[in-house]
Amino acid sequence: MEAASTHKPAYDRLAELKAFDETKSGVKGLSDAEITHLPRIFHAPPHLLDNISPSAAAPDPHHHHHPSPIFPIIDLEGATDDPAKRNAIVNKLSEASANWGFFQIVNHGIPLTTLDEMKSGVRKFHEQDAEQRKQFYTRNFSSRIVYNSNFDLFTGPAANWRDTVSFNMAPDPLKPEQLPTVCGEIVAEYSAEVVKLGDLLFELLSEALGLRSNYLKDLDCGRGIQMVCHYYPACPQPELTLGATKHADNDFITVLLQDHIGGLQVLHQGKWIDVPPLPEALVINIGDFLQLISNDKFISVEHRVLANSMGPRVSVACLFGTYLFPNPRKYGPIEELLSEENPAKYRETTTAEYVLCGNNKGLDGSSTLLQFKL
Ligand code: OGA
Ligand code: NI
Repeated sequence: MEAASTHKPAYDRLAELKAFDETKSGVKGLSDAEITHLPRIFHAPPHLLDNISPSAAAPDPHHHHHPSPIFPIIDLEGATDDPAKRNAIVNKLSEASANWGFFQIVNHGIPLTTLDEMKSGVRKFHEQDAEQRKQFYTRNFSSRIVYNSNFDLFTGPAANWRDTVSFNMAPDPLKPEQLPTVCGEIVAEYSAEVVKLGDLLFELLSEALGLRSNYLKDLDCGRGIQMVCHYYPACPQPELTLGATKHADNDFITVLLQDHIGGLQVLHQGKWIDVPPLPEALVINIGDFLQLISNDKFISVEHRVLANSMGPRVSVACLFGTYLFPNPRKYGPIEELLSEENPAKYRETTTAEYVLCGNNKGLDGSSTLLQFKL
């Protein structure tokens, strides 16, 4: 009959999600089992799969006439010791933060060897024996080390083809011996570098907002860091799912290290733009809190990661947010930026309230920030 042939059979989605979660082996486990068909729990609804043939993965040789806008790259050379260069850098940061919400930085001071070792450390964590990594598998997000597949597995609209291990690394860093053996040393080393870089970025961003250099640091924007280490195995049917559903980040800024595979895309002026992988660069994006406190001067932009067929892809997102330490501070639009013509657009909130609101919703493609609009 017509209906029987066109409708997928009903299935017990919750039971399949639970069964997958109970393997504690993530999508890496499915990839090791060499499955050829993507289980239904990973099938994304069509509205989340818009234009998933990216310019990078499927270049159209006939379209030479509409070149993609150039993704901003900012050279930080001279930022700390050359006032003229610093001034030029601050202007570029301001422009990229206002128009893109995203940019890459080079000459950021973190050695290339540290970046490479960090990527291989993440790979080693996810590629160690399942029995080893299972010890860290949990959905208790107050744990300082959380390994699982899809933080929003039970709340989001579709599971992503991605596993994640995250480490709570500031203000009170985990020591190498408290971290997984395969990556402890490098996680500790890299996070110390990112904390230093964060200090510089928050100074430059304060200046880009026309505020004194320590303004954002004094608001504790740089104090808490969650280091989120993703692993995206090659996917058997990458056209049916995503590595990460479109979302904006619930933090002040994110410092992202990505490998050479690609697939990260940013929604810029209504179009998905690829973020080109560069081995020496870090990708920086403005998060929702910085949009909120800058009263929309800087924008927190939606981004996503395509599932790939060439992986694994590895990335490390360091989220600068303060929700990891008890922080009663209320964040609202910064007074100095407001005027009669530019009144506050958001109500005040705590980071804890905001993150809870975002996590309850999951990655469903909708904006958390809108819920705080006045
Ligand atoms: C994130 C994120 C992108 C990536 O962790 O919020 O957007 O390339 N990651 O993994
Ligand atoms: Ni993100």
